[in-house]
Amino acid sequence: MRRMRRMGRLVLAIGAVSVAAISVGGCASRERAGHGHGGGHRHHGDIGEYAAMLERPDREGWQKRDKVIAALRLKPGERVADVGCGPGYFAVPIASAVGSAGKVWAVDVEPKMLERTRQHATEAGVSNVELVNCAMDDPGLPVGEVDTIVIVNTYHHFPNRPAYIAKLRAALAPGGRLVNIDFIPKPKEERGFGPPEWMQIPRAVVDAEMAAAGLVPVRSHLFLPEQYFVEYSAK
Ligand SMILES: C[S@@+](CC[C@H](N)C(=O)[O-])C[C@H]1O[C@@H](n2cnc3c(N)ncnc32)[C@H](O)[C@@H]1O
Repeated sequence: MRRMRRMGRLVLAIGAVSVAAISVGGCASRERAGHGHGGGHRHHGDIGEYAAMLERPDREGWQKRDKVIAALRLKPGERVADVGCGPGYFAVPIASAVGSAGKVWAVDVEPKMLERTRQHATEAGVSNVELVNCAMDDPGLPVGEVDTIVIVNTYHHFPNRPAYIAKLRAALAPGGRLVNIDFIPKPKEERGFGPPEWMQIPRAVVDAEMAAAGLVPVRSHLFLPEQYFVEYSAK
């Protein structure tokens, strides 16, 4: 496992390495047609289409990326992990926000998502992104080194959440925080996008799961129309 993690991690060296070479840990599950989420959490449809869906220009209307990043009050030098980074929609601008003294671990189970993140990082001229091709049940982050863990629209994908959150908790540096943004449960026909209703998790459930790992809400942001946006820290 340790060897697999080593293989799955590389410091972004623009143009010098290929994410396609990374090995993938994972599980087999079938894609449910059309909604861009794997039936057993992992996506097995066309990753290019999935990434394009995550990057649709109309996402900004409800995701308010710049406002989210401003609300995080990131400091130069901060060490951030974006777990389930997808095509780097948040990871890359966060890498710019923390500057060259800071770093971002862009973590995903899908090598093609990491390849997309690498491309966006190159276009943005940032070189402080470390791509981590994690296993489904382990974010593969170093223990005690991450100031801020950001999870956007991904919490509902994690298998065995208590065990997964415990690993995230262990990755936090002293005083660190975990930020979770995910969909307020709503029937799909009322929203028209996002995960299917059976995958949506109420905030109260997330709070209880975080509390079991010793994390409590310290800040809630209420400006996202479709989502809760909560920062957790150790009790
Ligand atoms: C809905 S996308 C969100 C991507 C990104 N956070 C965003 O907001 O654009 C979910 C991402 O989580 C990844 N993912 C699913 N299960 C995961 C796991 N157990 N660990 C890490 N990443 C995972 C998927 O490959 C996908 O890229």
